[in-house]
Amino acid sequence: MPKVLIVYFSHGGNTRRMAEALAQSVQAAGCEVSLQKVAQTSLDDLKAADGVLLGSPCYFGCMAAPMKAFIDESIKLFGKGELEGKPGGAFVSTGGIGGCGELALLSLNAALLIHGMVVQGLRSGGHQGPLAIGGPDERVLEECDRYGRQFAVLVQRLAG
Ligand SMILES: Cc1cc2nc3c(=O)[nH]c(=O)nc-3n(C[C@H](O)[C@H](O)[C@H](O)COP(=O)(O)O)c2cc1C
Repeated sequence: MPKVLIVYFSHGGNTRRMAEALAQSVQAAGCEVSLQKVAQTSLDDLKAADGVLLGSPCYFGCMAAPMKAFIDESIKLFGKGELEGKPGGAFVSTGGIGGCGELALLSLNAALLIHGMVVQGLRSGGHQGPLAIGGPDERVLEECDRYGRQFAVLVQRLAG
């Protein structure tokens, strides 16, 4: 069964709740899931995964610093292209409409693209990935479910 790593940072629990919803749907769609806080995640975990989802609150229009530090550390995998071709995706919780949450999603997706990963978009809803205002409401939970299932299909195709 393909392995999906869901890595997140969450100070207040909003992003964590999105990560948990995504984990359920990725698993229901047939992938093994490892749900991990960024502080407990190593570069070996990234290498071992068939697909990676990154989640962060929006801090000043960007991903939060602990997630950025982890991504900066992943430069060690960049030289040999160890993440190249793997599916990736992002999800964010932000404080309010117009609070630059989409920029935070873009900052996460940019990191995935720079590694040469294949980023899953969303045709209907938040096109860069699920974006919650505060905690995930019914709309965002439905979006996490759809995104998680689509992501699992992509991982299965590319791992197959
Ligand atoms: C240091 C800091 C910076 C923040 N910057 C933004 C921001 O630029 N835009 C915004 O909408 N919310 C901002 N927020 C609010 C968080 O994105 C929001 O509360 C989020 O839901 C927190 O997620 P969490 O519960 O997973 O920690 C900021 C919060 C903190 C603590």
